[in-house]
Amino acid sequence: MTVDVDPGVDVVHAETTLPEYLALMRQPVDFRALMRQVAFAAKRVAAELRVAGLRGMLGSTGQINVQGETVQQLDSYANATFVNNLLRSPVVSDLVSEEMPEGLHLARHKREYALLFDPIDGSSNLDVNLSIGSIFSVRSSDDVLTTGRCQLAAGYVLYGPATLFVLAMRELGVHFFTLDPTIGEFLYWRGPVTMPEKGSSWGANEVHSASWSRRVSNFVSWLKDATPHSTRYSGALVADFHRILCNGGVYMYPSDSTYPNGKLRLLYEAAPLAFIADCAGGRAVSEEQDILEIQPEAIHERTPFIIGSRTEIEHFLPARS
Ligand code: F6P
Repeated sequence: MTVDVDPGVDVVHAETTLPEYLALMRQPVDFRALMRQVAFAAKRVAAELRVAGLRGMLGSTGQINVQGETVQQLDSYANATFVNNLLRSPVVSDLVSEEMPEGLHLARHKREYALLFDPIDGSSNLDVNLSIGSIFSVRSSDDVLTTGRCQLAAGYVLYGPATLFVLAMRELGVHFFTLDPTIGEFLYWRGPVTMPEKGSSWGANEVHSASWSRRVSNFVSWLKDATPHSTRYSGALVADFHRILCNGGVYMYPSDSTYPNGKLRLLYEAAPLAFIADCAGGRAVSEEQDILEIQPEAIHERTPFIIGSRTEIEHFLPARS
């Protein structure tokens, strides 16, 4: 029997699924398997989010996590969903999650990938049905406590009006996949995405502005007055970063008197988003150095975080750029 083969089958098209895309781009089989598990967990979380209110899944569990923050029922659900799916994957040997005090080391005959993740980012948006996300970073199992430059890939899932899977790989750039819930697949949407050189919005929690450093305060004055940027801040890092990735601008959570080392976690919030920004032509810094150059010492450490378009970030760090 002969089969007619469509000459276009090996190009990315509107119906290309995430696994097909990774195969077309000749990504390693094990990496493809890992991404399949991450995407599967994200689809489960997206499905649960759609009916969480009806199922009584909103509100807190009454527990406090390793960060000293209240654990929401959906934080717990999403963490269990990611962990259970990844435990099934023979290519993952280390898991680090915001919701687990210790990293999880799995005995595997081959040490391959480590997945570092924040299962639900922006939990304060959960009870009011606003956008939230999941963030992940892929490293070699031997490179968990190394600089962000060692990440093999990074991405996030944005649970908004549509569920988007955003994946950054050094050699391929940043690509968007949209969940089509009617068929349960992430379909290729667009890429490689580049962050505009300059944007027109900025976001931070200004309640802390009285204790920002002079340099941060001067930078914010410049953003507001010299080159008017509108304020946009949703309280969910993934949603706020996604706006910056698409339209340019700045998101920041600098150090302040409440969070002297910054609020955001280096390994599963700041570093993966810095990697994505870098692949898209943007940049991320702490107040002292490039986020991707920070040598981590502990899995849950925090960092001040300023991320966005090159023009704005290089204005913040003129002497270093
Ligand atoms: O994970 C931390 C986080 O929820 C981010 O998603 C968000 O940008 C930030 O904290 C919001 O913090 P705050 O409520 O202090 O503005």
